[in-house]
Amino acid sequence: MAVLSRACVRLRRKAKRGMMSPACLLAVHLLLLVLQKTTALPELTCRFNQHFLSVTGEKGNPNNDPDCQFQVIDNEFLDVIGSTPKLLDVGQARASQGPVYSREDNMIYYTTKRDPGGWSTRIEKIKFKTFQAGETPNEPETFADGSPIATGLAMHPNGSLLAAFQGVGGSKPTVGQIALYNLTAATGQFNPFADNFCGSPFNSPHDLVVTQGGEVYFTDPAYAYAGGFKGRPVLTEAVYRVRKNGVVEVVATGLQRPKAIALTGNGKRIYISESAAWTGNVSENPKLDLSSFDSDLPHNIWSFDVSNGRLVNKQFFTTTVNFGGYGTLAPMSIKTDTSGRVYVATYQGVQVYSSSGSPIGVIKLQGVSAIGWGGKENDHMIILDEERVRAFKLGTCCGVVSSSWRLRAPSLSTFFMFFLVLVLSMLSLDPFEVRSPMVSM
Ligand SMILES: *[C@@H]1O[C@H](CO)[C@@H](O)[C@H](O)[C@H]1NC(C)=O
Ligand SMILES: *[C@@H]1O[C@H](CO)[C@@H](O)[C@H](O)[C@H]1NC(C)=O
Ligand SMILES: *[C@@H]1O[C@H](CO)[C@@H](O)[C@H](O)[C@H]1NC(C)=O
Repeated sequence: MAVLSRACVRLRRKAKRGMMSPACLLAVHLLLLVLQKTTALPELTCRFNQHFLSVTGEKGNPNNDPDCQFQVIDNEFLDVIGSTPKLLDVGQARASQGPVYSREDNMIYYTTKRDPGGWSTRIEKIKFKTFQAGETPNEPETFADGSPIATGLAMHPNGSLLAAFQGVGGSKPTVGQIALYNLTAATGQFNPFADNFCGSPFNSPHDLVVTQGGEVYFTDPAYAYAGGFKGRPVLTEAVYRVRKNGVVEVVATGLQRPKAIALTGNGKRIYISESAAWTGNVSENPKLDLSSFDSDLPHNIWSFDVSNGRLVNKQFFTTTVNFGGYGTLAPMSIKTDTSGRVYVATYQGVQVYSSSGSPIGVIKLQGVSAIGWGGKENDHMIILDEERVRAFKLGTCCGVVSSSWRLRAPSLSTFFMFFLVLVLSMLSLDPFEVRSPMVSM
């Protein structure tokens, strides 16, 4: 492109006629558009076909190609997947929710699927290193055992790990809360961070985000009650904010099963999913089984503007269906990238939307339970499906992680540079003041 544009500019100089360059540039653009339309797609990739069910019938859906792992609805998706898209294997694990990446130890932290018949989950970690066939896969390690149904995780900008616990009822009840872990302490002990709203216990906190300034927003759906492991809720389903001073306030209600929550890179917009369409019956087969979804119940994503910490201007973003397939899905986890795109984990795979809510493509993988960002540059999507941890390298940088910002003590070399610059500027600004004492000594 650049080469052709330069050729156009040279042509213009030669012609010395104003019309030459724009005409040439237009021709180049048209040529590129034609090329883009006709260029072969990367392997495992296909284009969405806007067929007519009245002609093909449901069974003849041309989008049901089992070899197509990356389905392109809009060319913007080609930027997301890059030229050689591939799902990379990180390791086998019962990884269900929350994946977050810790730079300090190059580990992915996640919460496990509940053990059958058990009432607790683990927070585990696995080394962020993809491996080829024949290499030894990474093994998960337990970070904290016996968490009372931990779901979402988030890194606090100061390096602590925040976890949402649903809590359980019964004879040994545990409270639903946001808990705080010290990642460097070996014990895996947690401290409560928020466990009530003005004295009333939360339902079952599910997912959370932390702003760069250390404020926490989290969803509190009634999934524990719906799943039969906690009594009737005291509070209505809501979204809460924990202010820097620790005070908890409610920022949204009226959403049915508010589940996933995500923040844009500039911190000015929050996405929240309503996931009531997923009946939340954890005892049933969680793999793609359309009977687990009720299309009469909400399965929407809403966007809110963040204004002075409050959520205002609620707007419809999208509703989730099986892209190119058939039926209703529920948005299980949401993430954003630095270009404002929105990634939604569904049981079909990872659906990708432009910032305005248009579907642009899908990374197909059955039973995806949650997504997150990983890698030193946040350039890998971490994908969990309760059986494996996978990674997908973005074709274009990067995922939004509020924890990418952190307070660090300035290093010794920074001090040295600062000192050097100071001395040099003193020397050049006022040489006599600096030199005279040296001379007099
Ligand atoms: C991080 O911030 C939280 C909340 O303010 C605080 O409780 C915790 O002790 C902090 N952790 C570190 C390592 O500073
Ligand atoms: C976290 O644990 C480390 C190691 O035990 C300890 O040195 C540090 O003070 C702890 N941080 C906080 C905020 O408690
Ligand atoms: C969940 O599934 C079990 C077994 O199929 C059933 O007995 C129970 O009523 C279901 N619970 C809900 C809330 O749908």
